[in-house]
Amino acid sequence: MSFDRSIKIAPSILSADFADFGREIQAIEAQGADWVHVDVMDGHFVPNLTFGPPAVAAFRKHVKTVMDVHLMISPVDAYIDAYAQAGADVLTAHVEAGPHIHRTMQAIRAAGMKAGVAVNPGTPIEAIEHILDITDLVCIMTVNPGFGGQKYIDMTAKVRKLRALIGDRPVHIEIDGGMDPTTAPLMAAAGADVFVAGSAVFKGGSVSTPEVYGKNIAAIRAAAQAAL
Ligand code: DX5
Ligand code: ZN
Repeated sequence: MSFDRSIKIAPSILSADFADFGREIQAIEAQGADWVHVDVMDGHFVPNLTFGPPAVAAFRKHVKTVMDVHLMISPVDAYIDAYAQAGADVLTAHVEAGPHIHRTMQAIRAAGMKAGVAVNPGTPIEAIEHILDITDLVCIMTVNPGFGGQKYIDMTAKVRKLRALIGDRPVHIEIDGGMDPTTAPLMAAAGADVFVAGSAVFKGGSVSTPEVYGKNIAAIRAAAQAAL
């Protein structure tokens, strides 16, 4: 199958109802989500705590699309197998999380997952230039990780540079933080194909009014596609 560069929307369940994850995941998928983004935080690499492997394994039972797991933890390597067992399709580690990102990417692929690397706003894109041959996805952070609902930090120049570094390699460019119908087109024009959105997808809706999620997802997708 050829590499899919089309626009994909990945709602972050960090903005879902934490007492109702199963139905929230079903609702966003029924309303057009392409991937489901799961934010794992350790209270050390970022100042917030979220989901361990048993929680992620419970989400997996409801995810029919792609489970995209974003690790905001340090160290990473000791947990790779646990998140593989939990059913992650894509596992993303931060380049800032330790000194051996090359080893981490190899270990993620060896555990049978797609390997992603995330890059904080303050980190130059050259930090990941030499691992692109063993990378399936680069996640460009457009907020400082740790919380949903933060203000978008413009990383257009970084994404353009990354697009050029990737060349024709089959590597996804994912954007995470502050994505909405105003900001997503800037990133689409710069070369991104996966758009994580938490607050902009879940705002105004609920499992009893899932059509709001559908409208929100469609609005981000349409704005991003219009920029291509
Ligand atoms: C931030 C997380 C994001 C977050 C995005 O640390 O990695 O995935 O949930 O939330 P919004 O779309 O509200 O910025
Ligand atoms: Zn994330």
